[in-house]
Amino acid sequence: MSTEPSFPAGFRWGAATAAYQIEGAVTEDGRGASVWDTFCAQPGRIRDGSSGAVACDHYHRYAEDAALLAGLGAGAYRFSVAWPRIQPTGRGAANPAGLAFYDRLVDTLLGHGIDPAATLFHWDLPQALQDRGGWLDRDTAYRFAEYADLVGRALGDRVRLWITLNEPVVHTMLGYGLGQHAPGETLLLGCFPAAHHQLLGHGLATAALRARTASPVAITNNYTPVWPGGGSAADAATVVAYDALHNRTFTDPVLGLGYPAEAPLDLSVVRDGDLETIAAPIDALGVNYYNPTAVRAPVAPGGLPFEIVPVTGYPRTGFDWPVVPDGLRDLLVGLRDRYRDALPPLYVTENGCAYPDEVGPDGRCDDPERVAYLDAHVRAVGAAIAAGVDVRGYFVWSLLDNFEWAEGYTQRFGLVHVDFATGTRTPKTSYGWYRDLIAGQSAPSAAAS
Ligand code: FCB
Repeated sequence: MSTEPSFPAGFRWGAATAAYQIEGAVTEDGRGASVWDTFCAQPGRIRDGSSGAVACDHYHRYAEDAALLAGLGAGAYRFSVAWPRIQPTGRGAANPAGLAFYDRLVDTLLGHGIDPAATLFHWDLPQALQDRGGWLDRDTAYRFAEYADLVGRALGDRVRLWITLNEPVVHTMLGYGLGQHAPGETLLLGCFPAAHHQLLGHGLATAALRARTASPVAITNNYTPVWPGGGSAADAATVVAYDALHNRTFTDPVLGLGYPAEAPLDLSVVRDGDLETIAAPIDALGVNYYNPTAVRAPVAPGGLPFEIVPVTGYPRTGFDWPVVPDGLRDLLVGLRDRYRDALPPLYVTENGCAYPDEVGPDGRCDDPERVAYLDAHVRAVGAAIAAGVDVRGYFVWSLLDNFEWAEGYTQRFGLVHVDFATGTRTPKTSYGWYRDLIAGQSAPSAAAS
């Protein structure tokens, strides 16, 4: 970095992963099947026909991966707990072998001085619960609270940050609305009950965790600045509606404001008392940011009440996502301006980019685009902090190249390259860049400035 932005003392620099994307070992130690095992087995669902059956083999290589985090100087690591390892059928007593894996992981992290940040649900629902309707079934919210209690009991003394759900907006829209992710439902806006039951589960799980841990409890969502994809009044109205749907539906009720009237939602599934449960106080809000979204009024009637159009005029990642670092500052400042005193401290719980990185003949994996991307986005976080937003940490997505859902192994997001045939890890140039950034920020002079 040319001039270093300065971050508050105690700011947490970390990296993030998710269980199904890295662990593999899907039939080991009593793990039950998840919706992603089922989905990947269906022809045509995953771009390269792959699955998370082996992934990064992190289940066996977790100590090596914790050492990579230690080498970065990371202060925190965000991972997710696989619900089907803890409750193979989604209900009942905990599977001791499943808990033991996270016990080992957490102790290994703490041994390196790294704060464990655990997400309870990063999309791998036990298939047995899906067989009863998954998140469309209200009972799943109660099962989630039971599972949260089991994990809280086992790890509540050592996990330093809890995240109930990862990106309910993406899980709902892609998993239940558009059929691009597990469980593959195509309900369009009829997917809302899946959203509501996740949020209900979040509220119930938050209460369950409080009894088991003194550590902060948060929820993570995906946020996107919404831009007009056309110049008409109808396009402008569509921006408001899409912003309400994507950004506010999963945040307003958590912060006690109920569902936004501007979002096209059929609220008949909401029962008396649900909004109070969902509004259980949280200690932090997790923000995942990748890119803005442009929308316009739909050209053809009958489908969704919005149409997503490409954001043009910016460089693009290997995933063809536009690179707009200022979008991150804008949305952090926007969250503060929108929610004011109701907004808890923020963590950027995911931010990163995919490029087709390769290990060269010299054994090095050079990823200058990722360095530029991360540098610009870290500066955007610094700008939001300078504007008075309370941001407490930043987690790069991801520590490792991994199984990128419907894209299989075709999108590499890691600071560390993974050879999926051998499992070999090769830190990329961006890994060294991030290590140096963290070291610079942790130096006494930086912390004091
Ligand atoms: C987010 C997901 C994460 C990863 C990144 C690229 O939406 O939470 O698992 O797939 O996108």
